[in-house]
Amino acid sequence: MPGSSIAPQRPRALITGGAIRLGRATAEALARAGMDVAISYYRSAREARRTVAALEALGARAVALRAGLADPAAARRLVAAAARALGGLDVLVNNAARFQRTPFLATTPAHYDRLLDLNLRGAFFTSQAAARAMGRRGGRIVNIGDAGADRAWPGYIPYTLSKAGIAALTRGLAAALRPQRIAVNCVAPGAVLRPRGFPRARWKKLSRGRDGGVAAVAAAVVFFATCPPQVTGRILRVGEGHPR
Ligand SMILES: NC(=O)c1ccc[n+]([C@@H]2O[C@H](COP(=O)([O-])OP(=O)(O)OC[C@H]3O[C@@H](n4cnc5c(N)ncnc54)[C@H](OP(=O)(O)O)[C@@H]3O)[C@@H](O)[C@H]2O)c1
Repeated sequence: MPGSSIAPQRPRALITGGAIRLGRATAEALARAGMDVAISYYRSAREARRTVAALEALGARAVALRAGLADPAAARRLVAAAARALGGLDVLVNNAARFQRTPFLATTPAHYDRLLDLNLRGAFFTSQAAARAMGRRGGRIVNIGDAGADRAWPGYIPYTLSKAGIAALTRGLAAALRPQRIAVNCVAPGAVLRPRGFPRARWKKLSRGRDGGVAAVAAAVVFFATCPPQVTGRILRVGEGHPR
């Protein structure tokens, strides 16, 4: 109709592990950037409800969905439920991950599988489901890696393998999904937010006592979630240090 204008649709984003910590900060940054946001949670149900309320207070449509992402079928169900709740999907942020110290000689196959199944296989199959949901309309996938992934980190080899895999996944998916106009990039944080149980003094040394890393990671995710699709296959390190 002449003279009428249709408000452009708000982009719709899904962030895995979006209820707490870095995931929550990133979900809020996506909402501030004008997106509707679905968060997934696994154990943090109460925090997920609080995060949804915070996202709604920022003006976003928001929903929390429970998913155990080591299971590829659960990843598929999560993406379908998020797309149903938001009316489509434009952005996926693969943030959910486990971080666990695993001294080499004491590492069991169960430790190894727990880390790889969630951190890498989970991101792979969540991305596959999201790419199917995005179809030919295009979209953005942002993987959360780790700035230490390409360094020797002897107490954390399976975790490091999973995050080195995230870098390879980012490059592979960027090439595979270029024809669909889905850009795939990776934000690789340094030591920005002390993991639960990580010794404080050691963390202070790693992070060099600097604050602001969480906001910087969230801003980098928003950049990749909104930048032109020609920016793809990139890995951006954000923040200080990494455990050795
Ligand atoms: N913190 C840092 O300084 C730092 C540095 C480098 C890289 N990173 C990366 O940044 C991301 C966020 O870091 P963070 O420190 O905020 O992580 P975190 O506190 O360990 O949170 C992990 C998230 O993963 C979810 N999760 C755990 N197990 C799951 C499962 N089986 N299925 C589905 N979701 C599961 C958790 O959900 P529930 O709580 O609901 O169970 C939680 O939201 C991770 O990818 C991490 O590797 C962080």
